[in-house]
Amino acid sequence: MSSDSKTANILNIPSSVKSNEWHPLSWNSKPVQQLPPYPSTDDLQSAYNQLKGLPPLITSWEIDALKNKLADVSDGKGFLLQGGDCAETFEGCKAPKIVNMLKVMLQMSFILVHEMGTPVVRVGRIAGQFAKPRSKDFEEVDGVKMMNYRGDLINSYEPNVEARLPDPARMLEAYNKSGLTLNFLRALSDEGFADLQHPEQWELDFMKNNEYYKDYEAMVNSINKSINFMETITPNAFNTLHKVDVYTSHEALNLYYDSAQTRQVPRKPGWFNLSGHMVWLGNRTKQLEGAHVEYLKGIQNPIGIKVGPPFDLDDTLRLIEKINPTHEAGKIVLITRMGVEDVERIMPDFIRAVKKEGHPVVWSCDPMHGNTFSTKSSVKTRRFDDIIQEIRTTFAIHRAEGSYLGGVHLEMTGDNVTECVGGANGLNEDGLNTNYETYCDPRLNYEQSLEMAFLVAKEWNESYGK
Ligand code: PEP
Ligand code: CO
Repeated sequence: MSSDSKTANILNIPSSVKSNEWHPLSWNSKPVQQLPPYPSTDDLQSAYNQLKGLPPLITSWEIDALKNKLADVSDGKGFLLQGGDCAETFEGCKAPKIVNMLKVMLQMSFILVHEMGTPVVRVGRIAGQFAKPRSKDFEEVDGVKMMNYRGDLINSYEPNVEARLPDPARMLEAYNKSGLTLNFLRALSDEGFADLQHPEQWELDFMKNNEYYKDYEAMVNSINKSINFMETITPNAFNTLHKVDVYTSHEALNLYYDSAQTRQVPRKPGWFNLSGHMVWLGNRTKQLEGAHVEYLKGIQNPIGIKVGPPFDLDDTLRLIEKINPTHEAGKIVLITRMGVEDVERIMPDFIRAVKKEGHPVVWSCDPMHGNTFSTKSSVKTRRFDDIIQEIRTTFAIHRAEGSYLGGVHLEMTGDNVTECVGGANGLNEDGLNTNYETYCDPRLNYEQSLEMAFLVAKEWNESYGK
């Protein structure tokens, strides 16, 4: 582990809480990875108290609804599409970006629904995805050593020592930006939905040279036909059928932010993280006795667990058991991010062991995080071919094991960025500089995302289609 465990700033826990009892802050005395200390515990406590007093961003009913849908997926009935930015930024909280993200999510899910004939659960990496784990605590810029950027929820991207210190006021800003994003998302999913699916919104020209172009075109025409048909017979069908239906998710990394929004609600047992519908445990914070696992084991939300190298089968099984001791369906999404090199070696035994222990998980494939590399000119990128190859291999392994791969987890955007190489438009390394925007990991752009949906549907059909 490259960044050593730290002791957290210790916040006040009510004296009525017993010492071995779970509480939103019980993680606070555990060793914590990837969360640098704040310069002032008093300022942190004050921001925490303010955040704790603000209304929740989402509700427990929505969390329960998502969990029920994921329970269906774990049972082979449905597919999870989870995707969005690697890291949202405060500056990126803008209308066009949100519209484009919803548009690409909806279009991808139409492709999947149409091709697979199974319900698709849409979960964005959105409205709270502001904190990032980093491989190094510090970096040097022009000879000056400073803390690494850890996402807008923690510090500033600006390269100076002061701006890189963790600032607790950023938690309130992240809450505000998440609220604004969510408000617009909800409005769009209600009212803008009809516009977002109209034929002129499908930009498919880029696929003209692709071997599957005819298939794509036929599929889009057929999707449009069904939409028009539905609109004609029941004009409001889409609005009522698809209201909101986009859930939010983020990595539960800055545990101060997440625990301040973890609440009890009337007439329901347990605690709910009301800052996002689903949260996930990062691959770097999965220590069994660490702070992040302690926090996540106490909340009711569906929880993603990123699983990738360094991989230990026993530890991973203990982790799943610790977070879901009652084997509740819909609770755990195992997001495997093995990398195209390692997937064949690790997955078969892992799938068998999870089955043997009787865990009703949703298996999802993150083909992004195991396949990152830097070009000769030090630009962080991923190859479209590696991404699709990890998906293909993962499908093949699940199929061979009689197991159901029920989702994908993608870093993507609806914008026309140039961050991953390859895909139908053949972006090469020289083209990466044209529109390289991400502060963290490279994302699939609009075209690459749609193409990915077509290819995922194809793989799914080969594995599970009639
Ligand atoms: C991420 O999803 O952005 C991430 C950092 O993933 P992982 O924890 O799998 O490396
Ligand atoms: Co990432």
